[in-house]
Formats: sequence, structure tokens, C-alpha cells
Amino acid sequence: METRAIVIEEYGHADQLKESNVALPELGEHQVLVKIKATSVNPIDWKLREGYLAQMMPWDFPIILGWDVAGEIVEIGSAVKDWQVGQEIFSRPETTRFGTYADYTIVDDHLLARKPEGASFEDAAAVPLAGLTAYQALFTHGKLKAGEKVLIHAGAGGVGIYAVQLAKNIGATVITTASKKNHALLKELGADQVIDYHTTDFSEVLEDIDLVFDTMGGDVQRDSFKVLNENGRLISIVSQPDEELAKNVAVAESIWLQPDGKQLQEIADLMTEGKVKSVVGHTYPLTAEGVKKAHELSETHHAKGKIVLVNE
Ligand SMILES: NC(=O)c1ccc[n+]([C@@H]2O[C@H](COP(=O)([O-])OP(=O)(O)OC[C@H]3O[C@@H](n4cnc5c(N)ncnc54)[C@H](OP(=O)(O)O)[C@@H]3O)[C@@H](O)[C@H]2O)c1
Repeated sequence: METRAIVIEEYGHADQLKESNVALPELGEHQVLVKIKATSVNPIDWKLREGYLAQMMPWDFPIILGWDVAGEIVEIGSAVKDWQVGQEIFSRPETTRFGTYADYTIVDDHLLARKPEGASFEDAAAVPLAGLTAYQALFTHGKLKAGEKVLIHAGAGGVGIYAVQLAKNIGATVITTASKKNHALLKELGADQVIDYHTTDFSEVLEDIDLVFDTMGGDVQRDSFKVLNENGRLISIVSQPDEELAKNVAVAESIWLQPDGKQLQEIADLMTEGKVKSVVGHTYPLTAEGVKKAHELSETHHAKGKIVLVNE
């Protein structure tokens, strides 16, 4: 079948984004077709659009960007057992060139989760990529436990808002960095201490940290080694830690998110229980013009929480 989509036909700036009709692959036996109600923007979208990931993902054009979906199942593959037409779901689909800036997308059934009860499609679409990244950095790799101290850089960003809440929920002491204008929000989400990175050098005021979640790289990552204790761990989602600095701590690694429906369902259940929520700072329509504006905002590195694209 064909879907309306926002695509790129070559790498470049935001003005490469255009509306087009794209033929989707045939539905596999363990896949479902989803009618998209909302999707969200993540920095990988514009990094890929610019061509920075072309070696890692050597795809043909056109490329439908976007790897978050909230919507309704409209068709199921012949071997799908646990999902039905009409169910409201959300997902971080596999990373293929048939992304989610579209009216329809195909999702593997093991990557689906039920939309949290009471959540809007916008709130649900904000979660999968960013929420799963936070979950895997903190728990799968960072092994964060109750009573430990975690430093989460960029708490007000797309990944940060979920990381702060997930860390607080398991009983960690949560320290985060943000501009002053976002401090009240982060306290409300559960941060115990918020450092204004414009005026305070975190590495001069913190010590004995068990886990640093690095969402920034560069100097922020390098200075983070100064605040870790001897059993400390540093998990980056941006760049590989320096090998020499890594020798002074227990764990220092850079990770890539692995899509996972079961973990997403855990986050969905926390949302249903009111323990985790989305912070949708900005919404745009799912049109070429809307996506262009959304990318330009994301590229400033100062969006508040998540940027969501609504399929009206
Ligand atoms: N490896 C993976 O699998 C993976 C997965 C997801 C994301 N990522 C990467 O992780 C990074 C973060 O993603 P994201 O979606 O959270 O980005 P984002 O939403 O664009 O982050 C924006 C936030 O960063 C904050 N910020 C900017 N400079 C800062 C600084 N020096 N210190 C502290 N906070 C600062 C801003 O806060 P203020 O406005 O308060 O200044 C803003 O709230 C991106 O590079 C992305 O590509 C990697």
C-alpha cells in the first residue's frame, strides 16, 4: 500500500523535507500496520537528514524519517497473536527507511506496547525512543539501584525528562543540569538537586556520584569523570568515553538504544499509574512545513521536553 509521508530524497538541510506518497513493503507475518495519530522528533532524525549517519545506515531514498509512533492498529500479519485491529498502541519501531513521519507505518509485533491509559496520542508518541533510551542507560547498562546518586545531564531534554522520573521512581537521589527556566519543572518531575549549567560548574560542586548519564559528550563527559566515586559508572548516549579516563571508574561506555516492546510496556504501566509523564513542550502538524519547523527547533539543542508531530 501507499502512504502519505514526509520524506527526504537526498541529504541536506530542513528544506529537503517534502511530502510524497511512498509504497510501503508488504506486511510480514509478525507485523502490524498502524494508522499514525502522532509521532515525535528526536535528534537522530535531523542527524540522519543531514547525512551524518549515512555510513551506518546506507539506505536508498526516499527516506521517511521518524522512529516514534502512537496510533491505532488497522491490519495484522497472519502470525500475530497478541494484537488486534482497533487497539491503540505506541512503539519505537525498527530503524528502517520506512519511518513514522507518515499516515501509516509497519511495526514488528514484539516492539508494540499498549498506549498508557488516559494518555493522549501526543503524550504517548513522545515516549518510545527517548523513554527507552533513558530506561536502558539507567537500568540495563547503568545498573542504577535505590539509594544511589545519579547525575543526569540535560534533564529538561527529550531523554532527560524520562530519565529524571525513572531514576526517582526506583529510589535514587537525582541530580540534574538545566537552564534556570526549567528548574521548577525538573523539581516537579522529582529531581532532588538542579544545577544551572550556565552559572555553576557541576564538577566543582558534586562528588561521590554512583552513575553519570551523559547526554552531552565533549567537555561535559570529560568533566563527569571527576565527580564519580571509585565504583562509579558513566553511560553515554553521545560518544565513546576516553580510554584513559575510563580506567579510573568501574564502567564507562557508549550505548545505542535497542527497541523493546516489553520495556516500553513497563514505562506505559508507570504512566498509567501516574509515576511517569510526558512533557510535550512543542507540537507541530505532521506536514512538510511542520516537520521543518520542528527540526529547526530540535537543532537549537534547547527544546523543552519533547517535540511532537500531530497527524490531524
Ligand atoms: N545513543 C542513543 O541511542 C541515543 C538515543 C537518544 C538520544 N541520543 C542523543 O542524546 C542527545 C540528547 O537527546 P535529547 O533527545 O534529550 O536532546 P534534546 O531534547 O534536543 O535536548 C535538549 C535539552 O538539552 C539541554 N542542554 C543543552 N545544552 C546543555 C548543557 N550544556 N548542559 C545541560 N543541558 C543542556 C537543553 O536544556 P536548557 O534549554 O535548559 O538549556 C534542552 O532541554 C542527542 O545528541 C541525541 O542524538 C542518543
